[in-house]
Amino acid sequence: MTDLTGKIVLVTGASSGIGESCARKFASAGAKLILAARRMERLERLAGELGVDCHLLQLDVRNRAEVERSISGLPKEWMAIDVLVNNAGLSRGLSKLQEGKIEGWEEMIDTNIKGLLYISRAVLPGMVRRNSGHVINIGSIAGREVYPNGNVYCATKHAVDAITKGMRLDLVETKVRVTTVDPGLVETEFSEIRFWGDTVKASTVYHGFQPLTGADVAESVVWAATQPEHVTIAEILILPTAQASSTLVNKSAD
Ligand SMILES: NC(=O)c1ccc[n+]([C@@H]2O[C@H](COP(=O)([O-])OP(=O)(O)OC[C@H]3O[C@@H](n4cnc5c(N)ncnc54)[C@H](OP(=O)(O)O)[C@@H]3O)[C@@H](O)[C@H]2O)c1
Repeated sequence: MTDLTGKIVLVTGASSGIGESCARKFASAGAKLILAARRMERLERLAGELGVDCHLLQLDVRNRAEVERSISGLPKEWMAIDVLVNNAGLSRGLSKLQEGKIEGWEEMIDTNIKGLLYISRAVLPGMVRRNSGHVINIGSIAGREVYPNGNVYCATKHAVDAITKGMRLDLVETKVRVTTVDPGLVETEFSEIRFWGDTVKASTVYHGFQPLTGADVAESVVWAATQPEHVTIAEILILPTAQASSTLVNKSAD
């Protein structure tokens, strides 16, 4: 098993949902955390609760210069990142392509694809130099199946899937591992963001069945990270028991 005690784990989007749960789970395993997100006050609160060494990065992953500056400017003792959890991401809108909001598309593409690439490009050279490390991308069932009205969000998660596979090919001559963890429905702030702050509409997504929690997903992330170094967990698809596909959810299960 890979012991996470004292390892440096960078979690993007650590201010909420799956990212916050990953931070908690890695902290329980004894890791040191670099917590990144735009909402600094949330990161500060979380760091105060974790009881392990934390370094906070107020960071918009869409801003390439900011990403490069933040990673290259890490204090020396935080530079050797062992595990990168590329989690920051969002969906905006759920509508037919011909009716979609272009600003929402741009936000998703810039965050889910370009942001993940900027962070990975900044972190990976160090891992390759040290010939050690693990990149865990948070994909989605939306990266495996396109669902009606999900068009651009699904495209961004299909891109994450391709990038994950590309990374694994490009890193095969190193000991750096690459994993994708692809959840189905997880109750976080995700739907609230998707529906532009409409909390009532967002809550209906999770009615009638028991969705995953961020902690359920974090469990898989940390499990993948603790496998022996010669073992790569390439892909994990994790679903609520009431969900069988992107579109088939048993909403009379509760
Ligand atoms: N919830 C689901 O059903 C589900 C299913 C499959 C996959 N996922 C994926 O899981 C990941 C986490 O989502 P979640 O469900 O935990 O949603 P969430 O509760 O809304 O959390 C999203 C996180 O991403 C961060 N983020 C968003 N845009 C950012 C940016 N430009 N720069 C830096 N950080 C940014 C947010 O932090 P700030 O706003 O503070 O920056 C927040 O911490 C996403 O990649 C999502 O696509 C979610």
